[in-house]
Amino acid sequence: MSEFWDDEPHIQAQLQVVRNTIEQTVATAHGFIRPILEDHVNSTGKMLRPALVLITSMIGDEDRSEDAIRVGSVIELIHLASLVHDDIIDGAQKRRGRASVFAKVGAKQAVLAGDFLLARALMLTSGKERGMDSQIVSRALTRLCESELDQDAGQGDFFIDRSTYLRRIGGKTASLFALSCYSGAALQEIDDATNKLAHHIGYCMGMAFQIQDDILDYIGSSKKLGKHTGGDVKSGIPTLPLICALEIENELDKHELKSVLTDRKIPLDQRTTTKVLSLVEELGGIQKAQFLAESYRKRALEEIHRLGNPEVERMLTSLFEKLSARSV
Ligand code: FPP
Ligand code: MG
Repeated sequence: MSEFWDDEPHIQAQLQVVRNTIEQTVATAHGFIRPILEDHVNSTGKMLRPALVLITSMIGDEDRSEDAIRVGSVIELIHLASLVHDDIIDGAQKRRGRASVFAKVGAKQAVLAGDFLLARALMLTSGKERGMDSQIVSRALTRLCESELDQDAGQGDFFIDRSTYLRRIGGKTASLFALSCYSGAALQEIDDATNKLAHHIGYCMGMAFQIQDDILDYIGSSKKLGKHTGGDVKSGIPTLPLICALEIENELDKHELKSVLTDRKIPLDQRTTTKVLSLVEELGGIQKAQFLAESYRKRALEEIHRLGNPEVERMLTSLFEKLSARSV
């Protein structure tokens, strides 16, 4: 388990149970796919999604830890399945510094391996979770798929507007963060307003998290990220630093970045990628993106306070601080 949760031993202990649940689930896979899936689930990182379920399940007075562990395992399995599928779509050889499932077994088997994780996730649910609305679960997964479809269809188009980008990351990342916070709160069966508030907190956290992730692709150290900086732009995926830089350039009535990216074949070559990275930085695209990430962070922190539970507030705020300080 990563040392990320060392300062929250209670959450760390429960995450260990989530991890065991996932390992037991994967141990039921057959044949040669089992060790490959075991390796994939063993490389789980901070386990943010189940941690959010666990923390938000403490909003009320009831002990819902058992349910929260199960629901957290379900959401983490869905996340792990989506990563297996994502690596096929991206043709990614690596995941968290290790060979991806796709790299090990090829696309056909990897699709099925991801489907297996999804099927097992469903098996862990009881069908009717306390206070949880299955429509909200379905909507989150639908958004996850739609955003990938949208991103894939638009690959190579660098000139998307901010709202398209925000919609994409809303589906790709914030949807599962929102679902996690919603689920934890719903397990307490308090009221709809609390569930909605928790959902929105998760959404804002996910947005801030993904924007920061996208910024790190422009400035992060390639060794820590386990991949090279500039990977997004190289593969034709416009993210916030680039979109902001193009906005600024347009306001300044300049055109250099725009012309570097016009009618480009993807993947971009290394020279073009390096040029784009430096222009985005010079134009202030990274700073502007950081500003937007900060506004989501602020919004989430205000809403966390409105939950009215000091211990949950402390844990979510401290999680936010740790995430904001991350460079991976
Ligand atoms: C990683 O993004 C991708 C995701 C978080 C979502 C992928 C979703 C799907 C493939 C839809 C499948 C849905 C289900 C329910 C299985 P990234 O490529 O930007 O980040 P990376 O650097 O981690 O690959
Ligand atoms: Mg990917």
